[in-house]
Amino acid sequence: MVGVYDSGVGGLSVWKELLALMPWQDYVYVADSANCPYGEKSPGFIAGRAAAVARFLIDSGADVVVVACNTATAAAISCLRQAFPVPFVGMEPAVKPAAELSRTGVVGVLATANTFRGRLYRDTVVRFASDIKVVEVVGRGLVEAVEKGETPSGLIRSYVDGMTSQGADVIVLGCTHFPFLEKEISVAAGPDVRILNPAPAVARQTQRVLDRISAAHRVHVPPSSVFYSTGDVSVLRRLAMETDPSLAQDAFKTINI
Ligand code: DGL
Repeated sequence: MVGVYDSGVGGLSVWKELLALMPWQDYVYVADSANCPYGEKSPGFIAGRAAAVARFLIDSGADVVVVACNTATAAAISCLRQAFPVPFVGMEPAVKPAAELSRTGVVGVLATANTFRGRLYRDTVVRFASDIKVVEVVGRGLVEAVEKGETPSGLIRSYVDGMTSQGADVIVLGCTHFPFLEKEISVAAGPDVRILNPAPAVARQTQRVLDRISAAHRVHVPPSSVFYSTGDVSVLRRLAMETDPSLAQDAFKTINI
């Protein structure tokens, strides 16, 4: 079973890729919606929440936990790896593939303030983007909008303009909520700008980890996905059912952890 965790509904963009790649797997998803957004909360608070959620996922039977949140990955992945016996897969800031794709030598990264502050992101930029220009834009307000099921076109346009006006021809979606806005981001950026969503690569990495611990080949008949939220489940349910309309209504539950 694969555990998936995000501050809210954003991790569904990763679950969607996991499900496409490994439809035979069982999934258990936790949205910490009561505490969303994480973007500007203290790293200590986020690490505490990540540990509580990881404990819940492992107790629920997860063989691997995907931290489908760039902000929680930045704040907590190394503590989680030290504290628990299962493997953790985190979000990779896709700066390396973006740098390789760019023809202008300018890439835009749209993420939360905490993701940009994290060591993982800073190290990645130093390692893979020292000879290109990286335009970092904090997508303030976007996570809250996705959580409400809204598309804030004005905000999207101003963030995208902030990157393309400096010559960015690749935009990295550095937050798992943003693939839900990908169409609008792409329209605002225009046809010459590539949008990079790291979720498919994270799904492939999860499969490699499962292969290694040989949990990927267990047969689940029928496979199931269960979704928990520490807050309201309505947007979680609507977005998950867009990916898999066969999900049962009782697959969505509220938890207090
Ligand atoms: N999906 C989270 C991420 O990838 C959103 C963070 C937040 O709650 O602000 O960073």
